Amino acid sequence: MSDASPIASLRRQFDEALGAATSEREIQAVRDRFLGRRSGLITALFAGLDQASPEARREAGRLINGLKRHVETALDARHEALSAVRPVASPVDVTLPGRRPASGHRHPLTVTRERIEGIFARWGYEILDGPETEDDWHCFEALNMPPEHPARDMQDTLYLERPFSRVAPAVEGPRVPPVGLPATLLRTHTSAMQIRYMERHDPPIRIIAPGRVYRRDNLDVTHTPMFQQVEGLVVGRGVTMGDLKGTIVAFLRELFGPKTNAVFRPSFFPYTEPSADVFATCHKCRGEGCAMCKRTGFIEVLGCGMVHPAVYEAVGYPPGVYTGFAFGMGIERLALIDYGVDDIRLFYENDLRFLEQFPV
Ligand code: DAH
Repeated sequence: MSDASPIASLRRQFDEALGAATSEREIQAVRDRFLGRRSGLITALFAGLDQASPEARREAGRLINGLKRHVETALDARHEALSAVRPVASPVDVTLPGRRPASGHRHPLTVTRERIEGIFARWGYEILDGPETEDDWHCFEALNMPPEHPARDMQDTLYLERPFSRVAPAVEGPRVPPVGLPATLLRTHTSAMQIRYMERHDPPIRIIAPGRVYRRDNLDVTHTPMFQQVEGLVVGRGVTMGDLKGTIVAFLRELFGPKTNAVFRPSFFPYTEPSADVFATCHKCRGEGCAMCKRTGFIEVLGCGMVHPAVYEAVGYPPGVYTGFAFGMGIERLALIDYGVDDIRLFYENDLRFLEQFPV
């Protein structure tokens, strides 16, 4: 048969139709058009053979079968090529550079607390934890603050209506303070831990007690109703004011650097005698005088003193046997100084733009 034969022309038609098909659906349409059981064009060619002579039928049959094979092979190849370029199911582009996962780090107040703990731990101090809910005895009375002492004023202390309890009361009780249960206030200072420790231990004592404390203060640049302190206590035989000064100066040099100096200024605390406020060389201006230290070159960092005999008496130590010193400092305050931050609230707002500046 020549090129003009129906078979050759059908083959061209097919090649053209398949060439134009770009989707599965269009390929299926081409398949139906040429191979469809009822009205497929090639199917019709086979049907037309009925009228032909046996020789012509054999020859034509061979040619039509050849066309059919060509059509089937081309359709299959086209189908496969299309499925190969179909977009992969996963949207992951493995050629993109990786994204570094955001990793957290310790809060600047945690770093400051752990640095303080580390310094005293190296010197052999024991690190204590204690309750944040306290009773009047440990927070005030045993620390030589009698009932009328201004430190217990409702203005400062947050009193609890009843102690915190893990067990909810079965019925609403009368609204009177519970009798015989210890916790009636939120501790206003960690000095309460001095009493708790001395009630259970005899000297020699070398402890620090870090922890949260609470005061009825409004939030401003230097105050938060909750903040953290570290209390220190050293008691033994022959402990002197010189030991206190040496310890505090050594501590401040560890914390703020070896060039730091300290000034001890007489002060008053009911549980120490003598008492002192300690000022350290300003961390920011190194003693030159700046806005942070109000041009004095020094900045107040802690309170301390020699333990008052009334405190030993409260915990049942024999009179005149032991001497010791105590100190207390605010962690937020030391962190503000150390990092040069000017607003204490920043430590508690958890704004990542602030926290990410302390990648420790
Ligand atoms: N408790 C004091 C306060 O909250 C800090 C303090 C001062 C603690 C002198 C002491 C001390 O142990 O001796 O401000």
